[in-house]
Amino acid sequence: MTTSIDAAAAAAPSTFATTRLLVQQVRYEAEDVVSLTLVDPSGAGLEPWSPGAHLTIVLPSGLTRQYSLCGRPEDTDSYTVAVLREANGRGGSREIHDTGLVGRTLAVRGPRNHFKLVDADSYILVAGGIGITPLLAMARELETRGAAWRMAYGGRNRASMAFRDDLAVFGDKVAFAAQDEVGLLDLDSIVRQATSGCAIYACGPGAMLTALESTCREHGVALHIERFAAEESTTAAAAGPAGTTTAFEIDLQRTGVTRIVPSDRSILDVVREVIPDMPSSCEEGFCGSCETRVLEGIPEHHDSILDEDERAANNTMMICVGRSHSKRLVLDL
Ligand code: FES
Repeated sequence: MTTSIDAAAAAAPSTFATTRLLVQQVRYEAEDVVSLTLVDPSGAGLEPWSPGAHLTIVLPSGLTRQYSLCGRPEDTDSYTVAVLREANGRGGSREIHDTGLVGRTLAVRGPRNHFKLVDADSYILVAGGIGITPLLAMARELETRGAAWRMAYGGRNRASMAFRDDLAVFGDKVAFAAQDEVGLLDLDSIVRQATSGCAIYACGPGAMLTALESTCREHGVALHIERFAAEESTTAAAAGPAGTTTAFEIDLQRTGVTRIVPSDRSILDVVREVIPDMPSSCEEGFCGSCETRVLEGIPEHHDSILDEDERAANNTMMICVGRSHSKRLVLDL
């Protein structure tokens, strides 16, 4: 069934192409965790992806959410994402868990990857709870490459830890830590195991990532993280323009409209006057839903998604929090 909301969402303008995918299967993976298998309704192959990539999915209600791909990139006929039911979340996960989605089509954008594996001599993967999803795909990839890697995977108890069977095949490369049995992951000892040239990849609760950031800084270890929520500094940026920001002009090239973004409003806010269906989700610069191509001008990035190289390239920006260093930005909208 395709609802009118689905159709509106699918038609929502975005810099990146939207496709409609069929929910072929919803499967129980662990306590409060289900996986969704998405396929092209015509059976066509899907866009390739690499570990760390995510999809932006528009739910039947119109909510937009991002989920890491956790299947196998060589399975070109389907995508798999896993979703934790968050009782106190913003509603997207509850909708996925509580709605009969099998047989429905959803608007999907991506895959996009802001969490790519870099070349390193060795890797340590640190997963907290549902943060296992991108790291599961990475573990498989590193194993295939013959890389030196290990994983520490913590969860509140065994029953809540998804994909334990998939990870068990890697033997002692994966250390499981159920909090009710052994307490929280010992981040200090994990980081101490990092030898020269090691890269640590982590995904999980904000408190775990913040603690890991400071431990890695202390030990001089390269850390790559993916957050499910904004860092404090990013939230502050989203709450209002920085003191240095002023009004600037945006030129929406495909729409043919020019607008002024005043110092007390976001680009997203102004774009919505012209494009009411402009996709967004977190509106705090950490989910990637509003990522927009920049055709001219110099954006001022305030998101926690783009890495240093992507920021320097200035090809895209998150318009929910980003502003402009130049007097005018031309956007691919
Ligand atoms: S809406 Fe999430 S990054 Fe902009």
